[in-house]
Amino acid sequence: MKVTIIGTGYVGLTTGVCLAWLGHEVACVDTDKSKVELLERGIPPIYEPFLEQFMAEARERILFTTSYSAAVPGSQVIFIAVGTPPGPGGNPDLQYLHAAARAIGQYFDGGYAVVVNKSTVPIGSGNWVDALVRESYEEHHGRSADGQFSIASNPEFLREGTALHDTLYADRVVVGSDNSHSLEVLYTLYRPILDQTFTAPVYLPRPEDLGAVPLVSTDLASAELIKYAANAFLALKISYINEIGQLAEKVGADITQVAKGIGLDARIGSRFLQAGLGWGGSCFGKDTAALVSTAAEYGLDMRIVEAARIVNVRQRERVVDKLLAELKILKGRTIALLGLAFKPNTDDLREAPAIEIARKLLERGCRVKVHDPVALERFRREHPSLGVVCCESGEQTAEGADAVVLVTEWPQYREMNWEALAASMRTRIVLDGRNVLDRTRLARAGFHYLNLNGDVHAPAETAAVQL
Ligand SMILES: NC(=O)c1ccc[n+]([C@@H]2O[C@H](COP(=O)([O-])OP(=O)(O)OC[C@H]3O[C@@H](n4cnc5c(N)ncnc54)[C@H](O)[C@@H]3O)[C@@H](O)[C@H]2O)c1
Repeated sequence: MKVTIIGTGYVGLTTGVCLAWLGHEVACVDTDKSKVELLERGIPPIYEPFLEQFMAEARERILFTTSYSAAVPGSQVIFIAVGTPPGPGGNPDLQYLHAAARAIGQYFDGGYAVVVNKSTVPIGSGNWVDALVRESYEEHHGRSADGQFSIASNPEFLREGTALHDTLYADRVVVGSDNSHSLEVLYTLYRPILDQTFTAPVYLPRPEDLGAVPLVSTDLASAELIKYAANAFLALKISYINEIGQLAEKVGADITQVAKGIGLDARIGSRFLQAGLGWGGSCFGKDTAALVSTAAEYGLDMRIVEAARIVNVRQRERVVDKLLAELKILKGRTIALLGLAFKPNTDDLREAPAIEIARKLLERGCRVKVHDPVALERFRREHPSLGVVCCESGEQTAEGADAVVLVTEWPQYREMNWEALAASMRTRIVLDGRNVLDRTRLARAGFHYLNLNGDVHAPAETAAVQL
């Protein structure tokens, strides 16, 4: 099929590359010239494992361009995958969605296309996009848009860091439309994924227990709500274990063991039950805020979702509280932050806890040193005036520091030479924000170990956490 993708960020690029790799003809259009120039040279503008290799393999069937007129005409399916960043009052900023919808109407040259919203958009946006595309088409072409378009929603569930895996071996594909033809077109498009008929790449093997991928076909509003409801549920699972972690600290329980004991219940499941610093990233904060705000428009209070948001904010504040309790005075102290990206295996810094923690520490008069194995360059570009010291290694970050805070659980941080690190620090305090460090080893190196759950009484052997 001939497919256009509007917006080549984490979602649009992954979708475009995967569809081209599966055999579709794909045109990816983005307004960011520098991004498109990189893509044309085969360089992904984001860090995502295997993406460069995948792009190279799909190269013959993919076009990267800034020109709508080169991308849109003749398309059978047009995906909108532009950003929907947080706007004022909890609602996402829909200016990019608006511009994309208008451009589709302007540049579509007849035939029939399914316009698919892949961006996470407030419930009801499908109808809004429909109206925008039609209005623009009629304005620019002087004829009715009837019979030219239909609208669908196809929410995205990929996780940054495993985006290709999550796209090829999805848990499910959700498509929503009030038009049955749109659903048929999307079924045809996704058939290789749904039926798993492609030969798996050696570097991304198919999970052994994966059968056919379920397709969930719904109306437009249900598909839009599924995305928000799924993200909010994951967010509140994280906040739930963090809240239990706070109680664990008070009663002297080991949150790691508690999480294990809860998660082995098949009704609950063990994923998203790692207590720690809480969630970051571009989605959970924005999507939970949008859910609360949409519900408010209908006179509903989303109390559970609101509570999850409050707990998440509190976890970050607790980092500063813990350091203050330990060091007594923060002014003039040097604090080393290990990890900037909001999670490992990505360079995405949106809503990254590290940045907020750095700001809070700077406000308290600390000197803040930071490191990330992948996101440092992006950090320098996006936060040039934050006022922290960027370091080239975890070890260098800790030199002369009063405390080290593990913010992002990059595996390499567990493997660092903690003994040498201890020797170079002013005070040997480590705050393990993700509960991943081997505290037996740290204790041997002379560290005073802290985390956000207070499971300091747990036997050291059982407390060393597996990711
Ligand atoms: N990142 C994720 O993990 C993830 C997962 C699921 C859903 N989502 C949702 O998908 C959407 C996209 O997220 P993302 O992380 O890929 O965003 P992103 O910011 O990485 O990418 C958006 C891209 O759209 C481009 N763009 C903006 N306006 C445009 C226009 N008018 N025409 C063409 N290109 C335009 C930007 O230049 C940018 O490259 C958001 O709604 C997000 O909530 C993201």
